[in-house]
Amino acid sequence: MDSNEKSVRLGRREFLASSAVGLAASSLGGSAWSIEEPTLKQPTRAVNTTPSRVIIDTDPGTDDAFALLLAMRSPELKIEGITPVSGNVPLELTLPNALRMVEIAGRTDIPVAAGAKVPLVRRLVTAEYAHGNNGLAGTVFPEPKIKPVAEPAAELIRRVVRSHPGEVTLITIGPLTNVANALLGDDQLAPMVKSVVMMGGSLSGGNITPSAEFNVYVDPEAARVVFQSGIPVTMVGLDVTRKTALTWDYVRTLESSADPVGQAAAKIARNTMEMDEKAGYATGQKMHDSLAVAALLDPYLMRFEKFYVDVETSGELSAGETVAYSPYSGDLRKTLEWEKQNGKLDMSIRGSAPLLGRTDISPVLRKHWVPNTDAAMDVDSARFFKLFLGRLTGKAS
Ligand code: BDR
Ligand code: CA
Repeated sequence: MDSNEKSVRLGRREFLASSAVGLAASSLGGSAWSIEEPTLKQPTRAVNTTPSRVIIDTDPGTDDAFALLLAMRSPELKIEGITPVSGNVPLELTLPNALRMVEIAGRTDIPVAAGAKVPLVRRLVTAEYAHGNNGLAGTVFPEPKIKPVAEPAAELIRRVVRSHPGEVTLITIGPLTNVANALLGDDQLAPMVKSVVMMGGSLSGGNITPSAEFNVYVDPEAARVVFQSGIPVTMVGLDVTRKTALTWDYVRTLESSADPVGQAAAKIARNTMEMDEKAGYATGQKMHDSLAVAALLDPYLMRFEKFYVDVETSGELSAGETVAYSPYSGDLRKTLEWEKQNGKLDMSIRGSAPLLGRTDISPVLRKHWVPNTDAAMDVDSARFFKLFLGRLTGKAS
């Protein structure tokens, strides 16, 4: 049985009545909200009835900016903090960019705490080629008036999680340095974290090297700490985010909005499209980070499968690759018929063959398959954009 089969079975009426989306609809009077019959017949995620406590760990970054605006426009989320980290551009830029988004959304109630300037053990690699020198595709917003809180990011994460054990989801849309620092500094913390919803990784090739997705590539050791922490991970990787390319039509929809959030997003979106076209990229900017936020907003958006995921940290060419094991997929998969007759499928977690002369390591790293990740395998992109544009323009969905 795959994760889709196991998922909660709710009819549309029950979903509307019980979901966070439905709840939000009723709290906003309902009339501006319309939810169409979903493409996926059942929700693939558990459905919340109260706002989820979240911390957003981010490196804005054009698509991070969209994701922050989407999150701050979403009543399903109770944002306990935003923790910028170095990634797309250095912290000196991601921090003020996050503060700017908070001001634009009128959400200065949310604490913003400065995170790590450099990855755990590597030199920082940035992505100005995709996000421009200022991280916002050259879009200029005023200097932020508000300041970050004094507490560093890792401490904010620890304090908030410890104050609400089992309740806080970490939405990570940048390199995972801050979260790893929080976990490494408190070995009791991991079981208190409800989940990590991560834009990161890929099961189908990378975007900075052929193997690695950018966020995991920048700090693979940190990503490994997170995947091995025991916290349930929802991985919204390139496998699905690649299917969410921005188009000029979407930019024009944002531009038609009088809403300051829609206007700000429109400026970033237009500059991003122009920058990408000038640079000759064959496909438009993907809405990577917003899709990770949206995973918590609409249980019908994506289809997930379970994997044990680990991160390659030592490869000369492949560091940052997310390696996913499952007895239900790949060349060695078995049939459900076989499972029915013989019991639950299992597999060992096998690593690279040991080098000659080494007797100390076995290629079997773990004897049994215990999944640590729900990886998104498919997405209804039109549904995502409807949600995204509706929220940012203040119009619907
Ligand atoms: C991820 O890397 C960054 O460039 C984006 O902001 C996104 O988080 C996509 O690989
Ligand atoms: Ca990002």
